Amino acid sequence: MYKDDKLTDKWWKNAVIYQIYPKSFKDTNGDGIGDIPGIIEKIPYLKSLGVDGLWISPLYLSPQVDNGYDITDYRMIDPMFGTNEEMYALIHEAHAAGIKIIMDFVANHTSDQALWFQESRKSKTNFFSDFYIWKDPKPDGSEPNNWGSNFGGSAWTFDAGRQQYYLHYYAAEQPDLNWENETVRQYIYDMMRFWKSKGVDGWRMDVVTSISKNLDFPDNDRDLVTSNQQNGPRMHEFIHEMNQEVLTPCDMMSVGESPAAKASDAHLLVSPEREELDMIFTFEHMHIDRKQGDINGRWALQNRDLVSLKRILSDWQMALRDNGWNALYFENHDRARVISRWGNDTTYRYECATAFATVLHGLQGTPYIYQGEEIGMVNADYDLSDYNDIELHGNYDHYVRRKQSISHDEFMRAAYKVSRDHARTPMQWSNDKNAGFSDGKPWLKINPRFSEINAKADMASERSIFKYYQTLIQLRKNNKIFLEGSYELLFPDDEHLFIYKRTLHGETWLIVANLSETMIDSPFENEKAEMMITNMGRRTLSEQLRPYEAFIARV
Ligand code: NOJ
Repeated sequence: MYKDDKLTDKWWKNAVIYQIYPKSFKDTNGDGIGDIPGIIEKIPYLKSLGVDGLWISPLYLSPQVDNGYDITDYRMIDPMFGTNEEMYALIHEAHAAGIKIIMDFVANHTSDQALWFQESRKSKTNFFSDFYIWKDPKPDGSEPNNWGSNFGGSAWTFDAGRQQYYLHYYAAEQPDLNWENETVRQYIYDMMRFWKSKGVDGWRMDVVTSISKNLDFPDNDRDLVTSNQQNGPRMHEFIHEMNQEVLTPCDMMSVGESPAAKASDAHLLVSPEREELDMIFTFEHMHIDRKQGDINGRWALQNRDLVSLKRILSDWQMALRDNGWNALYFENHDRARVISRWGNDTTYRYECATAFATVLHGLQGTPYIYQGEEIGMVNADYDLSDYNDIELHGNYDHYVRRKQSISHDEFMRAAYKVSRDHARTPMQWSNDKNAGFSDGKPWLKINPRFSEINAKADMASERSIFKYYQTLIQLRKNNKIFLEGSYELLFPDDEHLFIYKRTLHGETWLIVANLSETMIDSPFENEKAEMMITNMGRRTLSEQLRPYEAFIARV
C-alpha cells in the first residue's frame, strides 16, 4: 500500500493534463497569433478529449525574445493574447467545465525589459541592485567564469552602465534572478498568491532546479557547457520555502522542470515528506537519441535506443512508487513530435501515435498531452530561415558558425529531428486556410501536411487518434489499476517491444506495444485475455505483433 493512501484526494493524480502553447493554439482576431478567446472557444474540444487540467505556456507581458519565457510583468497578460479580464474569464469558463488551470511559473529569470532589471542595471546601490546576479569582470576584463548560455555563447553579458557582468542561463535578454535576495523571493511568492486569487490551480515551474546558484562560480570543466547550472546548494531550501509560503497554504499543484534529475535523486524533490514539489519533468528519457557527452550537445544525435527508454521510464516508475509521483510526457513546446523523432510519421502515423500514447498512459503518474499530439501532428522540416526559435538560431551560430564543431548539414539533420519549433507550428484544426488556426498570416509557418493532418479530418476518420486518446483517458479514469497498480517491466532487453504489467488486488493488465516497423512474434501463449483498448482490433495475445501495434489487455 501507499504511504500516502489519500491518493484520490489529490486531483492531479487521477488527472490528464493538456499543454497549450497559446501563440500557436487558436487565433480569433486575425493577427496570426493565438489568443485567450481562442482557448475559450476550444474548451468544448478539450472537454470532449477528457482532460482535467490545462497547463498554459506563458501569456504574461513579454517582448517574446523566447516566446514568453522572458517576462516583463508577471501580473499582466500580454495584449497579443488578450486582457487580464479575458484570462480571468478563461479560468472561470475552464472551471465551469471541470478543468483546472496551471500557469507557467518562470522565476529563474525575467525579461531584461522588466522594471526590476531596468532599475538593477542603473547602479550598485539601489533597491533593485541585488535582484539579479552581477559580478565584476576578471582583471583582464573577461567574463567571471566560463559558464555557457543554453542558447549559445557565454552566460555573462557586460553592462556598460554598471561596469559589471550579469548572469543569464538563457538569452542575454533573460537575466537570472538572485534568489539569495529574500525580497526577490517574497515578490515572487506574492505574484503566485495574486494568481491564486484569480483562481489558478497550480504551476508548471520553468527550470526551477536552476534557481540556486553556486556562489563560488567555479569554471565548468569544458568551455561553454552548462554543467554547473543545475541543483545549486540552496535549491531544496528555496523550493521548500516556496512550498510553505505558497504551494501548501494556497493548495496549488506544482510540476517542476528538472533537467538534471535522475530517478535515483528525484524523491528529494517530490517525496511528500519533503514538502517541495508534487511532480517533476525529467529529461532523462529525452536523451535516448543523444550522444552523451558530445561537444555539440543536443545536436549530436544517434538512433533512439528503446532499451534505454524502457529502463529509464521503469527506473522512474520504481523510484517514485510510494515516494512521490511521476509526470509523464513525450512532447511539449521544447520537444519535437515523438512520432517523427522516434517513430514513423508517414506509413504508420496512426499506429505510431497510438502506440506511444498507450505506453505512456499505461504508466503510473500524471500524463501530459501536448497540443496536436492527440491528432498525430508531425515535425515540420523548414529552411533554417523559416524557423523562429532563439535556441535553434543561437546554437547554429555557436556550433556551426563560430566553433565549426558541426557542419550545416549535420546540424540541420539534427534540427529536423529535435528543433523546438516542430512543436510550435500552429495547431491544425481543419483543412481550411491556415489550417483553421488564423485568418491572418500565422506567426510561424503552418506545417505543409495540414490538409492531411488536422483535428477535423482526424475526428471524422475511422482511425482517429483523438478518439483513441478519448478511450485511453476514460480507461484510466475508470480503472484504479492505472492509479495504484504495481509496475513490472517485461523483456527489458527486447529492442522492439515495450511490454509491462500493472497489477492490483491480484488482477493483472498488460500494456503492450511493438515500437518497430517489423512483424514480431508474440511472447505470449495465453489466448485468454480481454482487450481493453487496441489500435488494430487485436483479439488474442498470441498473434504476431504488427508494426506499431499496441494494446492493453486484462489477463
Ligand atoms: C524551459 C522552457 O520550457 C523553454 O521553452 C525556455 O526557453 C527555457 N526554459 C527558458 O525559460
